[in-house]
Amino acid sequence: MKSLVILITGRGSNMQALLEAKLQVDRITVISNNPHASGLEIARQLGVETLILDHRDFPDRQTFDAALAEKVDTCQPKLIALAGFMRILSDRFVQRYQGRLMNIHPSLLPAFPGLGTHARALQEGIRIHGCTVHFVTLQLDHGPIVIQAAVPVLPGDSEETLAARVLQQEHRIYPQAVRWFMEDRIRLNGNQVEVTGASVSEVALF
Ligand code: GAR
Repeated sequence: MKSLVILITGRGSNMQALLEAKLQVDRITVISNNPHASGLEIARQLGVETLILDHRDFPDRQTFDAALAEKVDTCQPKLIALAGFMRILSDRFVQRYQGRLMNIHPSLLPAFPGLGTHARALQEGIRIHGCTVHFVTLQLDHGPIVIQAAVPVLPGDSEETLAARVLQQEHRIYPQAVRWFMEDRIRLNGNQVEVTGASVSEVALF
């Protein structure tokens, strides 16, 4: 059985892109650490199973992550996709799912790991910005890269206009990466990701 778990914290637009991508999976479960995440309602409306695990109910990160792993394991997922999951995961959690834990990040990694990527991109005056789907490793926002999409930074851009341009691309690349994974087309070779049958123009989008 091919099961996919999507972890969210808030809006859930990347989750929605994954849910609407008609992936060939048998089961999808959306888990949120935030009971008020608007993405939960979107998932429910699309008829997808949702679970809530409020991190504020736990004394520390280790305990929350252990409970999260327990919930995740009940779904026996082939892949766990972080889609705007705004919590740092403990080393133990990351190690448990190494090679099947993916994230989408709103910058062209390794540039701008962490938060506030669009504001920092504008501050630095860069001309090309974008987003990255990568495997999660112990170093925050630094795992093997599956696919990236670039967008121009335009004169007069605000954080909001730039974020919106990047988000459009996020919604393209995340379903693509997850589809490849589900089709067993992704091989990890150290820090390199090989995608069987994918051309350069499919893993590097301009
Ligand atoms: C997305 O832009 C995603 O790339 C980013 O949060 C946003 C969530 O939006 N993730 C991170 O910054 C993770 N470091 P969404 O809830 O609408 O998908």
